[in-house]
Amino acid sequence: MSAFQEITARALKPALLELDGISRATIESHYKLYEGYVGKRNEILGKLETVDLSTANGTYSELRELKVELTFAVGGIKNHELYFEHLGGNGGEPDGAIRRLIDRDFGSVDAWRADLKATGLAARGWAWTAYDWDESRLFNYIGDAQNTFPVWNATPLVALDVYEHAYFIDYQTDRASYIEAFFANLDWGVVEDWAQQYQITA
Ligand SMILES: [Fe+2]
Repeated sequence: MSAFQEITARALKPALLELDGISRATIESHYKLYEGYVGKRNEILGKLETVDLSTANGTYSELRELKVELTFAVGGIKNHELYFEHLGGNGGEPDGAIRRLIDRDFGSVDAWRADLKATGLAARGWAWTAYDWDESRLFNYIGDAQNTFPVWNATPLVALDVYEHAYFIDYQTDRASYIEAFFANLDWGVVEDWAQQYQITA
């Protein structure tokens, strides 16, 4: 019996194909990568069941490769599921707990936006706004790749994909304009639901 459950890619919500300033072709390229990560995750977990842990041919290079690839695939899944879920809104200003948290930890929504935008311009792969449970506050963190996570014990609430596939079709090298489009399509209701669900309060 297999020790792991295969997972399947979540369907794209139709609103994602109608975003303002982020094209259908771009969303489809994210989705294709996301589906690839789901397949890879299942494949690697299958292979890990057959790896001989006692010898690994005298080295652990195969095990290392599989486990590093697994983090990359799982990161690609989690990051994209966040990304897809919280786009499709009308941007604007947040409300509720997330608004209070942003005001408290960044001073204002504009200051938070400026910081996340700069973080996204500085990053190779991702920028996140996450709530750090040990510090009891929000931070904007960088992930240079799918599998470089900022810290343990933090919950991401905003996930900004800044890999080239996220903007090149629509903006070529103008990543800053893509980040503006990202803000304009953010669904703050979804972010607020996550804050409530995890009981993150200011
Ligand atoms: Fe992506």
